Amino acid sequence: MRLRLARRRHAAGASSSVAQAEALEMESHGRNELLARGPDPFRPDRRLRWRDHFVLTEHLLQLNGISPEHDGLRIAQLSDVHVGQATSDVRIRRAVAAVNAAAPDLVFLTGDYVTHSPKPLPRVRELLKGLEGPVFVVMGNHDHWVDVRYLRAGFEDLGYTVLQNEHRVVHVKGAPVTVLGIDDGLTRMDDVEATFRGAPTSGTRLVLAHTPPTVEKLPSHAGLVQFSGHTHGGQFIVRGLTEALFRRAGQPYIRGHYRVNGNHLYVNQGLGFGFGGPYLRRGSTPEVAFFTLRNTAAAHVGAP
Ligand SMILES: [Fe+2]
Repeated sequence: MRLRLARRRHAAGASSSVAQAEALEMESHGRNELLARGPDPFRPDRRLRWRDHFVLTEHLLQLNGISPEHDGLRIAQLSDVHVGQATSDVRIRRAVAAVNAAAPDLVFLTGDYVTHSPKPLPRVRELLKGLEGPVFVVMGNHDHWVDVRYLRAGFEDLGYTVLQNEHRVVHVKGAPVTVLGIDDGLTRMDDVEATFRGAPTSGTRLVLAHTPPTVEKLPSHAGLVQFSGHTHGGQFIVRGLTEALFRRAGQPYIRGHYRVNGNHLYVNQGLGFGFGGPYLRRGSTPEVAFFTLRNTAAAHVGAP
């Protein structure tokens, strides 16, 4: 299997014209904090506060093990939302709107919806509701530390599919996609064998697992792609030091794409933390990730 990653970044919500922003600043008497508020924070003529920003990333995944029907399949991934004082509510609502605007075929949520306090639990459902399309959810370490049962019930009320060491087969574009959801590895709730038991052994198979090192437990050279988060892209990047510290902590996969034992891994930088909250980020911008699957066999049909 071969995977090439094409990555395009652009700041979300950066389309305001200078003139519009200046006019709004005059209306608000120069108080920037007023510019991001209001009933519709997605209006293009509103300049957003810096804490409400994230980047959209686009990835092209060229695979030869997927069903031909899934050439062009679109996936959106949100990870590590960390609802609460660590993450602005506007940023989360804008991320949900960005996902819906892209109209992906599948939506993946890869864990850590809260941090330490149970207080934000009801807001998780409120802020993450309304995601369109089949939505699949796995849990992270913070979810287990706070209240995983509450979170699971809330997501299921929204019609989202929560996978804790289980899989589902969903039909998309006329062919089955197997979504395998492995529970959190940091809290040792992961059970790869149970997740794969009875699952199809070929076709389009996509793995969700909060902790990146879970990829090492997957069947090797099985044509799998694992979508993960957890690391926040390193959270606070000090060149030469951050990666060494993560490796020492057993987290060698920090952000972006990796090949591991013949499978593929994508580590999302996460949406939460930083930009004004109590947990700083440096050199790692909050991310909403989009993926387009391409079938390499289909791509070579008719090639000279
Ligand atoms: Fe985590």
